[in-house]
Amino acid sequence: MADRVGQQLGNYRLAHLLGRGNFSEVYLGKHIHLNTLAAIKVLYAQLANHGMEGFLTEARTIARLRHPHIIQVLDFGVEAQTPFLVMDYAPGGNLRQRHPKGTLLPLDTVLTYVMQVAQALQYAHQEKLIHRDIKPENMLLGRDNELLLSDFGLAIIAPSSRQEQAEDRSGTMAYMSPEQLQGKPRPASDQYALGVVVYEWLCGNRPFHGTAGLCHGPGRGQQGRVICADALCVCLGFPQGTLSRS
Ligand SMILES: Nc1ncnc2c1ncn2[C@@H]1O[C@H](COP(=O)(O)OP(=O)(O)OP(=O)(O)O)[C@@H](O)[C@H]1O
Ligand SMILES: [Mg+2]
Repeated sequence: MADRVGQQLGNYRLAHLLGRGNFSEVYLGKHIHLNTLAAIKVLYAQLANHGMEGFLTEARTIARLRHPHIIQVLDFGVEAQTPFLVMDYAPGGNLRQRHPKGTLLPLDTVLTYVMQVAQALQYAHQEKLIHRDIKPENMLLGRDNELLLSDFGLAIIAPSSRQEQAEDRSGTMAYMSPEQLQGKPRPASDQYALGVVVYEWLCGNRPFHGTAGLCHGPGRGQQGRVICADALCVCLGFPQGTLSRS
């Protein structure tokens, strides 16, 4: 993939690559006049004219979110059919980097994170927006170590232009609810994904492993989900059944 370091997008010069994901790469950008820093997310998708309107509509929806635990989208644009978003820069990296796979987190750390994510989700759901991609990679840390949720709704505005192998998306799929895997996400799908993240932080492992929507875990389907929810209850010291969803 071509490296865009040194290029200018909008009013920002791309200084270095912060990371790559399934449908975008993110650069640290420096404003050419103000010298301020921002994260520039460049989508792999090339937009044809008919795709432009949809992208702009969704980008507007995301940009109107204002919450202390949601990364603010500052600007968006399309240059040479390449869409990009300008966002607040989170200097602390993401929670996957902070707590690599297999790390067990103390309960008070988990609670601190969950409170912040849950507040952000409640606000977004009130604004009728589903995140769709809750996972540690999308939980960033701000200047004061505050948690900032990124990529709100991006799963709908950034259909990948790359041919993804099931393996590429399996990291994300492991957090997806059954209804989202069936293409019918609802607000509770975000809470489900947060539950999987909490399980991983407390137990060191994700409850389900697998690709392409075939999850192999402590059990499949409804029964497996109940087992996971109960395991989470044990970890959190809640009575069993507290976290099961109807
Ligand atoms: N606003 C930001 N500030 C600082 N770093 C960021 C910001 N947004 C994203 N990053 C970093 O850029 C990297 C790539 O992000 P990106 O969202 O493209 O991929 P991802 O979240 O890892 O996977 P996915 O494509 O499934 O969302 C991540 O490692 C993330 O930490
Ligand atoms: Mg992301």
